[in-house]
Amino acid sequence: MIKKILVDGDERLLKLSEEVLAYEFNSKELDDLITDMIDTMRNANGVGISAVQIGVHKRVLLIEYNEENPRYENLGDSGGLQVVINPKIEVVDDEVCDYNEGCLSVPELYGVVTRPKRLKYTFFDAKGQLFEGVDDSFWVRVLQHEIDHLDGVLFTSRVADKSTLVKK
Ligand code: NI
Repeated sequence: MIKKILVDGDERLLKLSEEVLAYEFNSKELDDLITDMIDTMRNANGVGISAVQIGVHKRVLLIEYNEENPRYENLGDSGGLQVVINPKIEVVDDEVCDYNEGCLSVPELYGVVTRPKRLKYTFFDAKGQLFEGVDDSFWVRVLQHEIDHLDGVLFTSRVADKSTLVKK
């Protein structure tokens, strides 16, 4: 079901999300949450979404993008939909990169955010299967943006040069 996306100014977006516990995997509640997140993200043409954005403080996020996305250009392809639960990330080296980020919870605003380019990550999917790897694609850009949501952080607070923060 398509849910209402919380927007900047709503204090629920600033609250820390909690880890999904072992018994919650493969539950109807988790499956329903993920279905709602998929419906809501796709309806809004998002490239990612976190549970907090529909008001659920669980460490669950989705990543899905391809070249057809109307909100961003030259994204490449995420290789389908990825459900990311309880993610952990570790910065691998000093290399950083800039990207003009936007957010479904900050309508129409975009701004340049500098983030680590390469990350080591682990996470679980909806069935509780562990994934791990190292990546330096757009995928880890989205991952970092969504993990920020789980930690109650909006991208606007990471825009160092506020003059890049513009409506479009
Ligand atoms: Ni966002």
